[in-house]
Amino acid sequence: MARASSPTGHATRGTTNTNRLRRVDRWIAARPELLRAPAPLVVDLGYGASGVTALELYTRLRTVAADVEVLGLEIDPDRVARATAQLEDVRAGRTPFPTDARVRFARGGFEVPTPRPPTIIRASNVLRQYDETEVADAWRLMTARLAPGGLLIEGTCDEIGRVSSWIDVSADAVPLRFTISLRLAGLEHPAIVAERLPKALIHRNIPGERVHDLMALLDTAWERNAALATFGPVQRWLAVVAAVRDAGWPVQTNRTRAKLGELTLPYSAVAPR
Ligand SMILES: C[S@@+](CC[C@H](N)C(=O)[O-])C[C@H]1O[C@@H](n2cnc3c(N)ncnc32)[C@H](O)[C@@H]1O
Repeated sequence: MARASSPTGHATRGTTNTNRLRRVDRWIAARPELLRAPAPLVVDLGYGASGVTALELYTRLRTVAADVEVLGLEIDPDRVARATAQLEDVRAGRTPFPTDARVRFARGGFEVPTPRPPTIIRASNVLRQYDETEVADAWRLMTARLAPGGLLIEGTCDEIGRVSSWIDVSADAVPLRFTISLRLAGLEHPAIVAERLPKALIHRNIPGERVHDLMALLDTAWERNAALATFGPVQRWLAVVAAVRDAGWPVQTNRTRAKLGELTLPYSAVAPR
């Protein structure tokens, strides 16, 4: 285990928000990797200025994995102190979270100092403030800590969690899938997610790159299916997902997930050229 005094990475802005990560949490809650793990340890890496997203992650996951444990790791020691104080409020029943929530906070960076290998590491809005060239090393460091069959989920979202996307990466550092998840009610156009792509892709939204083709197709299909808005944004999005599939993209999203505003593709379909 790496020494707590030398976490890998650097402190960045701590912006976070209640409910901000609900979309990625919902996706994590459906992962077979989580559901089949006995007493899974889940890490919220870089939880930010408050521990709320770690507490929410625990609350959401315990409904599908009763014995889940969440460890919030932060590189900034002041944020560890603040979240630890929040936890005292939780234990004292002064918050909506269960007083016996199996949540802890500690200092740590990409070396992910945990007492046992985590099944899931969720790193949301962390790499956004790093350089693109630092992504591969950060993925390698974090995934090296995963339990066999575990997943790193690394991505970005807007401040209130309506527009989000992430990449899940295997324990041997192979990026598996790319997922976008959009709040469909009030969605103006799906390529808004281009502003909230994971670091590995956000600078690749340029002509000649696959993710750029995908963004263009999403908006074209959204416009073409404008008439379906009469039946609601879900019907319009289902038509977009069908159009992406019909255009030959290897869509992995079933109808149930698509209705949630999701689209998942193998990472290879959008990987930088
Ligand atoms: C923008 S906040 C994101 C907070 C929360 N995850 C969210 O999505 O709302 C990013 C946080 O990641 C932390 N951070 C940056 N690099 C880190 C690293 N290598 N290890 C742990 N935390 C890190 C920063 O200190 C900051 O508090």
